[in-house]
Amino acid sequence: MKDSNFLKEHNARQFWHPMAHPADSMANPPTILTGGEGVYITDVDGHRSIDAVGGLWNVNLGYSCQPVKDAIAGQLDALPYYSTFRGTSNDKAIELAYLLAEFFGPDGMTRSFFTSGGSDSIEIALKLARQYHRIRGEGTRTKFISLDKGYHGTHFGGASVNGNAKFRNAYEPLMAGCYHIPGPYLYRNPFGADDPAELAQLSAGMLDREIAFQGTNTVAAFIMEPVQGAGGVIPPHPSFMPMVRDICDKHGVLLIADEVITAFGRTGSETGSRHWGVQPDLMCTAKAITNGYFPFGSVMIAGHVAAVFEDDDSGVGSVDSGYTYSGHPVGAAAAVAAVKETMRIKPWENARARGPELKVGLEALAARYDHIGDVRGEGLMCAIELVSDRRKKTPVGKALPLVFQKAAYEDGVMIRVSGNNAIFSPPLVIDAGHVQKILSAVETGLKAMAEAA
Ligand SMILES: Cc1ncc(COP(=O)(O)O)c(C=O)c1O
Repeated sequence: MKDSNFLKEHNARQFWHPMAHPADSMANPPTILTGGEGVYITDVDGHRSIDAVGGLWNVNLGYSCQPVKDAIAGQLDALPYYSTFRGTSNDKAIELAYLLAEFFGPDGMTRSFFTSGGSDSIEIALKLARQYHRIRGEGTRTKFISLDKGYHGTHFGGASVNGNAKFRNAYEPLMAGCYHIPGPYLYRNPFGADDPAELAQLSAGMLDREIAFQGTNTVAAFIMEPVQGAGGVIPPHPSFMPMVRDICDKHGVLLIADEVITAFGRTGSETGSRHWGVQPDLMCTAKAITNGYFPFGSVMIAGHVAAVFEDDDSGVGSVDSGYTYSGHPVGAAAAVAAVKETMRIKPWENARARGPELKVGLEALAARYDHIGDVRGEGLMCAIELVSDRRKKTPVGKALPLVFQKAAYEDGVMIRVSGNNAIFSPPLVIDAGHVQKILSAVETGLKAMAEAA
């Protein structure tokens, strides 16, 4: 390995980071990681911390998941690559499709379309939704509706349905025909609602209204995360997604569940849709499908949607989209191992136990530290919203969250800050002791913020 100084200097000079200003790497050098073990990560200076970020919502089973590592190594020896474009397939991708049909069976999913990650999965799902309607002779259904604050990756389709201006403005004009409605974000909502059930009803009502306004026969799909993640961990009231399902059905609009974060246990259930008792028409997955060890994703397709494509004899149902790495044998091998391990360990059970411990601990800190304006969470995805004036809900500026993050990291816990949110998505295999350590590092961060304010 190159020495620490070499790495820091050349990171700043030659490496442009996603979601960062190129000049920022000079001013605020990133933490350079060199090791991972269990739920811990180690940086280039040998500092070890609990990874309360879980990689990027994806290392659900931690950094020492041997079956996935072995599967990757074994597959590199057997068949390191082949394409799955029409005419060729590979044994691991087939095994994975079979396994995913079992895992997602209770969600109504029967088919897989493999991708190289979350953004790719979104693009494919949006395309399949339009194509589904076209095959059925409803080619006028091309529009998409999504939620404010939704995050659906960074490709042009995903950015177009994205509900955060930050990920859109520099890249406009985006795809035409994409519309947004206010989501079930209680802390700041345009209705002045203070009851989550009421807000869920108001927000779902906006969907109904927007579809009617656009013209029912012009809307292809509504896309939502079962629990919004990057937007600041926003769990809806349990009534929200079922209402959305009913409204979509009423208008013949497909429901795409963006489960890139929520599939495989993070909410405390196997999938986010199952958590809310809803069967979507398409599900986008990625991230934990390989425990984050290999870039991979799968769009899951419900039986009745698949049938429309499979029964088509006009040729319109040919899926003329996909990626060089769709069904990559090494990724598929990694996914088979990760999904089998997930089914064996059932990490959603631990998420259901540890998540409330984390949330209750954060609420206790909110009672003592004014910088916490709101605490939200579902399973092992939590966030605190950092404010400078609690009554006015004024977001803290850019500098203080970094002070918070640095102090927590020095105390041994990696926490992600995004805007004025501190976000927690640790591996689903953390224990109660890790949760307490995360909470004590949060307190360290809050104290540092209070001193710096
Ligand atoms: C809900 C959601 N959808 C899509 C994506 C995009 O996934 P990727 O970064 O793998 O392209 C993300 C990434 O965080 C996500 O959280």
